[in-house]
Amino acid sequence: MKSVSNIRALAAATRLANVRYAIRDMAVLAEQLEQEGKTILPLNIGDPLNFDFCTPPHLIEAVEKAMRDGKNGYAPSQGIPEALEAIRAEVERKGIRDIHSIFLTSGVSEGLEICLSALVNEGENVLTPCPDYPMYSAVLAKLGAQPNSYVLDESNDWQPDLDDIARKITSDTRGIVVGNPNNPTGAVYSRRTLEQIAELARQHGLVIFADDIYDKLILDSEPHISIAALAPDVPVVTFNGLSKAYLVPGWRVGWGVVSGDAAGVQSYVEGIHQLLRARLCSNQPSQFAVRPALEGPQDHLVEVRNKLRARRDLTVRACRTTPRTSCVAPRGAFYAFPRFDIPVSDEQFVKQLLMEKHVLMVHGTGFGQQPGTKHVRIAFLPDEATLTRAYDGLRAFITEHYA
Ligand SMILES: Cc1ncc(COP(=O)(O)O)c(C=O)c1O
Repeated sequence: MKSVSNIRALAAATRLANVRYAIRDMAVLAEQLEQEGKTILPLNIGDPLNFDFCTPPHLIEAVEKAMRDGKNGYAPSQGIPEALEAIRAEVERKGIRDIHSIFLTSGVSEGLEICLSALVNEGENVLTPCPDYPMYSAVLAKLGAQPNSYVLDESNDWQPDLDDIARKITSDTRGIVVGNPNNPTGAVYSRRTLEQIAELARQHGLVIFADDIYDKLILDSEPHISIAALAPDVPVVTFNGLSKAYLVPGWRVGWGVVSGDAAGVQSYVEGIHQLLRARLCSNQPSQFAVRPALEGPQDHLVEVRNKLRARRDLTVRACRTTPRTSCVAPRGAFYAFPRFDIPVSDEQFVKQLLMEKHVLMVHGTGFGQQPGTKHVRIAFLPDEATLTRAYDGLRAFITEHYA
């Protein structure tokens, strides 16, 4: 007997309307061009492994050994003890005290998702930077949180605008996301700025979500300061991981560290642990890379920073000598967020640049930006020859169309 089919076109959930990930969306267009035989100059994605950066061999050996030693089952939900101990020592070196939980996750991405899910109810809000790394607002959109963004001030080296933060806090605001060093601006925040953010969080009972994933990729001489170290009483979840500085983004190793007043964070920590258990654990073999990464040789970092510094300088020079372009010099991570004085939208600009010059960058609207301004995000990971070709293409494009 033939069964009756009730299969209809499946509509995606309406909550996805606010989920954007322009970084990968632009890549789809580039793939089409590649299929037509064009060579794309990729300045779009923050994966160092696509370029001349190599995973330190001792990390590969540690994970291989773990697999051969049979560490292939489920791990404890919070992570394996040796990794947790190494993370504790690391964050204590950064001055973070009053630690109430440490846990390993599938990258900072999963950690943030878990920690926001454990806190935020539908209709509440968490302050996110504008421009932002799109994952923050994507997760909050999935949770049904109301968007609430604070200004990163381009005229002040992209430091957070503290008056704007203060103005945006409402009775429904539960937390604030602080990415330092910042994606997409490359800004590194001053002690004073961080202290002032911590003070606002203290006054208004907010949780700080501190994304420190780029803390070892500081390109100038100022040190990185973890906001949690400045405010031991304030609830802070500090996120970090191996993706960027230890060159293993595909291994999905991240962690979160909850600090703050013990009584204040207790029930929140229980909620986080509940969600960690519900998703079983993060990848066990790759957790065995954490101790060798944090406690082993750090030589590769010197080379990584040297390469990035040279590429940052080249990027800033190129932007400053290109018509209609200005750029605040990034001080950390591997992104620049130059501004363009052009008569078309930044999305149209990057699409046309891709089609005509095969240079792939991501439009600023993909990150949120102040109305009326037009930016693109550049990931300056490719070698200098590739960057030079890309910036020559950019300059020619602007000269041909708008100069
Ligand atoms: C600011 C920021 N946070 C988090 C992530 C994702 O980190 P993970 O690979 O640990 O999930 C990225 C990746 O580009 C990032 O730029």
